[in-house]
Amino acid sequence: MGIADQKKVQEQRQNSQLLATLGEMLTGIANEVNNPLGSILLYSELLMAGDLSPQTKEDLKVIHDEARRAARTMSDLLNYHRQEKSDIQQLEINRVLGDLFRTRRYKDGACDITVTLNLHDRPLLVEGDLSQLNRVFMNLMSNAEEALTKIGGGNITVTTRKAGEWVQISFTDDGPGIPQENLQRIFYPFFTTKQAVFGSGLGLSTCYSIITRYKGLIHARNNEEDGATIIVELPLTDTCEKTPSPREAGITGSLVA
Ligand SMILES: Nc1ncnc2c1ncn2[C@@H]1O[C@H](COP(=O)(O)OP(=O)(O)O)[C@@H](O)[C@H]1O
Ligand SMILES: [Mg+2]
Repeated sequence: MGIADQKKVQEQRQNSQLLATLGEMLTGIANEVNNPLGSILLYSELLMAGDLSPQTKEDLKVIHDEARRAARTMSDLLNYHRQEKSDIQQLEINRVLGDLFRTRRYKDGACDITVTLNLHDRPLLVEGDLSQLNRVFMNLMSNAEEALTKIGGGNITVTTRKAGEWVQISFTDDGPGIPQENLQRIFYPFFTTKQAVFGSGLGLSTCYSIITRYKGLIHARNNEEDGATIIVELPLTDTCEKTPSPREAGITGSLVA
């Protein structure tokens, strides 16, 4: 690994320790807040079922809905930080993406989004937990789709390549892009530019915590033209030449949904 790569990994490790401490604090708070929220929900429901004036019922409904919104945020937070067990295995990244895209259903009609899968022509082996990696890729796809929906549609290209001792997986869209001052902040828990009902701000921080667990890197940049690219880099395991290429394994080089 080159010096620049080592520095990147070290920076990311320090960052992820900070995020882990922050995560523990937030989980403690979420647990404390959940109990009183549960009581507010329960008692407001009991009261609403009673014989009250329409105005009082309406006011109670505001209390109930706001408590439910807060409870949803708390549950997102607990899910984000739950200590799940990882089932680490060797995975071929082209195959993981091929399978994911074969089963994924695209939102039809609402918006015109074209997805192209651009796979490296050799197998790319990494170590990771399949469901966690799928979660990372789904989060990145959802963000790109949501960015494109804002402007009525566009293109997403998912590219895999080998870069030295790394596997690079990039998600490029031609949407509105990310303001320069947000390029780092988007990975922080709860950072969102979406309305509360649409985004909890935990998608990218979840990606970050998963990828750094595998000693990988994740970063964002704006494209020269329109849109943004999120790049995931994972250490390549060293037995790549021994498995069949994705084409031999029946995965096509590009996919348009
Ligand atoms: N492809 C993208 N294009 C533009 N902005 C993006 C993109 N991906 C992420 N973002 C920005 O990063 C923020 C954080 O993303 P995320 O952590 O997934 O939370 P959420 O999607 O719930 O807002 C988003 O609110 C958005 O502002
Ligand atoms: Mg998101």
